[in-house]
Amino acid sequence: MSNAMWGGRFAEGPDAVLEAINASIDFDRRFYAQDIAGSKAHVAMLAATGIVSKADAAAITKGLDEVLAEIESGEFTFSRALEDIHMNVESRLAEIVGPAAGRLHTARSRNDQVATDFRLFVRDALDALGASLLRLQQALVDKAAENAASVMPGFTHLQSAQPVTFGHHLLAYVEMIGRDRGRLSDARRRLNECPLGSAALAGTSFPIDREMTARALGFDRPTANSLDAVADRDFALETLSAAAICAGHLSRFAEEIVLWSTPQFGFIRLSDRFSTGSSIMPQKRNPDAAELVRGKSGRVIGALVGLMTVMKGLPLAYSKDMQEDKEGLFDALDTLDLCIAATTGMVADMVPNLAAMKRSAGAGYATATDLADWLVRVVGMPFREAHHVTGRIVAKASEAKLPLEKLPLEAMQEIEPRITADVAGVLGVVNSVKSRTSYGGAAPANVRRQAARWRKALAKQ
Ligand code: ARG
Repeated sequence: MSNAMWGGRFAEGPDAVLEAINASIDFDRRFYAQDIAGSKAHVAMLAATGIVSKADAAAITKGLDEVLAEIESGEFTFSRALEDIHMNVESRLAEIVGPAAGRLHTARSRNDQVATDFRLFVRDALDALGASLLRLQQALVDKAAENAASVMPGFTHLQSAQPVTFGHHLLAYVEMIGRDRGRLSDARRRLNECPLGSAALAGTSFPIDREMTARALGFDRPTANSLDAVADRDFALETLSAAAICAGHLSRFAEEIVLWSTPQFGFIRLSDRFSTGSSIMPQKRNPDAAELVRGKSGRVIGALVGLMTVMKGLPLAYSKDMQEDKEGLFDALDTLDLCIAATTGMVADMVPNLAAMKRSAGAGYATATDLADWLVRVVGMPFREAHHVTGRIVAKASEAKLPLEKLPLEAMQEIEPRITADVAGVLGVVNSVKSRTSYGGAAPANVRRQAARWRKALAKQ
């Protein structure tokens, strides 16, 4: 049997393999609600402009509501032979309403229909991701405020660099997630134009009112070029780019959680709720959630690369390749949302080991820069010379296997006679971190201020 929706010129029905490669219903049924909302807006406009009769429009609207109820109650039978969500809905509508249902597709094509549905879906997903990220920020800010003065090592090259605080480190991620949220809302703003009425590619000769449908669906305006409207998926790419950057942030943090929770670092303890055991090694507490947040970022980045590759060679306007825009995006956004939730849970539950962090903060001569700064400030040395002198002192302490604050004053004075007992004040990690008061620096007072600023800002969002 040839296809009921487009089979007019066909004598034979499709091969089973064509049906298998062509059907998108298994995944695009996910935006049935957006599809029906789009159809309702469209038919209301067709009635308002006199393109279909008020009676037909009312019957179609009622029928669409019935289809929606059937889908939501699980009664609806989706059919692969009907390819996609658009034709599944319309075909059922025809069964309910009769021939008048055929008027719904006036001045419309599946090309502008799918572009509209997909934008509506992505818009909802962007809002949901933004809300999840807000909760993650709140969890991070709470933990940061509690740990504004918890000294921990700061690293460069994963080597001890200078002491920071746990709160300062967590607030670094609050900033990153803040920009991720900004990117999601930028994407939303640019996405929010309505393709409906662009029809297949060239617009339509019917006197449609595109402002009306755009408004009804919550779009800011109709898209200005019919070819662009049906041919581009940059809104999906932009969303995936923002998602991939965000997944990258979560992955870096996850990597740190994995490191910090090892017995070797011992900086944090993950809760039982966020740890798994080993079936052979009874002592193990594995950070599987963090590892999976790190691992799943690959899928999000993969979806971006996948869709960029699908799109890059397509001549305008629509090609069926574009049906490949959906599965990767669905998977990427679901994955990201799960990763955000897992990260939020781990942060809320994690308990820092303050003694271990502090001990480690002093390892590796992490206050050497403080000594060099003291030589500049008190003795008046140029920084480059102070760097060199401090390097010699560090070498001496290292030979004696002593931390800087335990190296006798006389030993330092052998290298630089102008060093006085006053230097002791800057050699400990607590004083070191306290002195980092420059704007954006790691001093506990700064961290407290930044955490309070974020808390206030987040409460308003
Ligand atoms: N299922 C299709 C998609 O997702 C809908 C658009 C089909 N348009 C067409 N001209 N065949 O892209």
